Amino acid sequence: MRESALVPTLAIALASLGVMGGCSPAPSKPANIIMIMTDDQDRRLGSTDYQYVLQREMKAKGTEFVNHYATTANCCPSRTSVFRGQMVHNTNVTHVNAPGGNYDKFVISGQDTDYLPFWMGQAGYRVEYIGKFLNGYSQKNYNITPKGWDHIDALIDPYTYVFNTPVMSMNGQRPVYYEGYHQSDVIRAKALDRIQYLTSQEKPFYLTIAPSSPHVQNDKYQPIPLSRHAHDFENVTAPRSRNWNPADRYQHQKGSWLATLPLMNESVQAFADHTFRQRIRALEGVDEIIEDVINLLDTKRVLHNTYVIFTTDNGYHIGNHRIPAGKALFYAEDTNLPFVVRGPGVPAGVVSKAPGAHLDLAPTFLDIAGMTEDQRPLFLDGQSLLHQWHHPESSAGESSGGNAKETLNVEFWGMCIIEAPNGVELGLPFMNNSYKTLRIVGEDESWLYSRWCTGQTELYNTAKDPYELDNLAINPPGDIARLIDRLNTILLVTKSCSKGTCRQPWTLLQPGSQPSEILSLKQAMNSKYDNFFAKFPKVSFKECLQIQDIENEMPYFPPLPETGALGQQYRNNTDNYKSEGEGGMRYIESPDQYGSWEQRHVTMAEINRTAREVTDAEIYGDLTMEKRRRDLGLVENPEWMQWIG
Ligand SMILES: *[C@@H]1O[C@H](CO)[C@@H](O)[C@H](O)[C@H]1NC(C)=O
Ligand SMILES: *[C@@H]1O[C@H](CO)[C@@H](O)[C@H](O)[C@H]1NC(C)=O
Ligand SMILES: *[C@@H]1O[C@H](CO)[C@@H](O)[C@H](O)[C@H]1NC(C)=O
Ligand SMILES: *[C@@H]1O[C@H](CO)[C@@H](O)[C@H](O)[C@H]1NC(C)=O
Ligand SMILES: *[C@@H]1O[C@H](CO)[C@@H](O)[C@H](O)[C@H]1NC(C)=O
Ligand SMILES: *[C@@H]1O[C@H](CO)[C@@H](O)[C@H](O)[C@H]1NC(C)=O
Repeated sequence: MRESALVPTLAIALASLGVMGGCSPAPSKPANIIMIMTDDQDRRLGSTDYQYVLQREMKAKGTEFVNHYATTANCCPSRTSVFRGQMVHNTNVTHVNAPGGNYDKFVISGQDTDYLPFWMGQAGYRVEYIGKFLNGYSQKNYNITPKGWDHIDALIDPYTYVFNTPVMSMNGQRPVYYEGYHQSDVIRAKALDRIQYLTSQEKPFYLTIAPSSPHVQNDKYQPIPLSRHAHDFENVTAPRSRNWNPADRYQHQKGSWLATLPLMNESVQAFADHTFRQRIRALEGVDEIIEDVINLLDTKRVLHNTYVIFTTDNGYHIGNHRIPAGKALFYAEDTNLPFVVRGPGVPAGVVSKAPGAHLDLAPTFLDIAGMTEDQRPLFLDGQSLLHQWHHPESSAGESSGGNAKETLNVEFWGMCIIEAPNGVELGLPFMNNSYKTLRIVGEDESWLYSRWCTGQTELYNTAKDPYELDNLAINPPGDIARLIDRLNTILLVTKSCSKGTCRQPWTLLQPGSQPSEILSLKQAMNSKYDNFFAKFPKVSFKECLQIQDIENEMPYFPPLPETGALGQQYRNNTDNYKSEGEGGMRYIESPDQYGSWEQRHVTMAEINRTAREVTDAEIYGDLTMEKRRRDLGLVENPEWMQWIG
């Protein structure tokens, strides 16, 4: 342990003297990167407080970033943003199913030939992936192997969230069913197996480990933990934050479908508490992955030269704003993510407020890999966070200063669902859930400004009202009206920004001839700019659609070019694309619960003993099996369940 603590310090000292490689005996190997990405994990509800290994091995030995955000709160769009380093308005992978998005859309748009694994490969890394990939990677299209990876072993639909029926395809081969094991144990064993290999070869490596926990198992409205954790935390309940099940006077200030949601009664609240417990139990399995990964890296003596990143794809709400459970909204619960980093040069035990977003990860990883800005893809909207990982400012910062950024564009297209048994009763799916949002994460002031496709506006002072309850856009007084003019104008820029204009949206909003007269909201609030900001049109939608449609979202600022706007020059047209189907029927069912204490250290060699390839009948189905499955009543599978991402 002492050795691993010493080496990075020495490396930094040498690097800062500019002598790395010059007089050190052998040029040091670029750092490895392991990203552990869960599915649908909240930060604001405190789920990470129950992850003791995360606390001990990551937070205490690394830096936690409390202002890290997803810019679209849904799995497939957010993961695509990570892969491409772009805003979702530029990838146009806007939802988890067609026509908004899914794996097929990612492939048909050609974005699968130019994304993170290719770039890391070009930078000299071996790149691997284990676990949940993109929604709609399924038993129907598994043989369209995700490109760019030296090795990928991905969960496939419709089994991705069926925790006791792990089915995965390795490098596009026929899916294998790992009978008798829980998904988290299979992913853990596979990750360790790959790290054994990766640490035995010369190249630096980039590995993503993506368990589906704590996502709901769709037919059960809750994640299913490993059986060894099934009874932990028995008295824990979902936090009663100020925005838990709020009174009418708050709820009626919300936009679109939220305003009319009824109060959650006792039984709905009891289920929400149960959901919370199942999630923190499921996360114990993730903690075991973290623990074993860190231990193995240490045993292999590479821990000191490996960045380990813990995060999720999007956040989650339970009972906040009266919604029993789910995501897909712009509020803090859904967008503010757990984000912890340890690795070379990252200080231990630090909490940083410096803002960041998932689209910054690709540039950050390329930075670690030593790829200079001019070698990176042209279309990246994000920016490297590496400097702030090494120097985590204690302040949230302003766009004018250093590496922090102040403005975060949060966006969504298409429906939202409630992930609880009474969702249908409450009226899901809620089709009117498109919106454009701006979050200002500043040192002196913080705001959340949102425009719904229904024409409604929400504005919260998130410094004073962190639970986002008092909508200031209703009858705004003069100063708030002036603020809305500014926020609306930046949102008008960020909703179609690309590359540099995403990083510095203010550069497009200069009233005079001075190129950088205004660089922050604070400067923009000067009353001499009132007329300038008042003249911009309001961000709006003509109607609520399930896709991103250019005409529907006019006007833009600056006006869009004739061709190539919204990332189109870097992807192929997907109009009227056909999806192969998003998983099809489940023919394999395991009524048992796995993950006993005996399986805590199960190895891949043991798991392989009961593993078998799925059969043609199980992939393509036949009526007899479908009928048999129905007769057995094994799965309750309402139509809407395919929509849960
Ligand atoms: C679009 O498709 C063409 C061929 O159909 C291909 O050559 C081109 O590389 C694709 N572009 C992108 C950005 O994927
Ligand atoms: C949970 O609460 C019950 C009833 O108050 C109590 O008997 C039990 O000891 C508690 N369990 C834990 C683990 O605290
Ligand atoms: C509570 O609400 C649920 C869902 O709306 C409903 O099904 C249930 O009957 C209600 N329970 C009580 C006790 O009112
Ligand atoms: C959805 O929004 C449209 C406006 O685009 C509105 O006419 C319609 O009433 C809304 N539907 C619901 C169910 O709120
Ligand atoms: C986004 O995708 C949808 C569905 O494929 C398509 O109809 C729409 O034109 C696309 N929008 C943009 C801006 O590319
Ligand atoms: C498990 O089986 C797979 C083939 O399905 C093989 O590639 C892998 O090497 C095996 N792992 C171990 C540790 O036996």
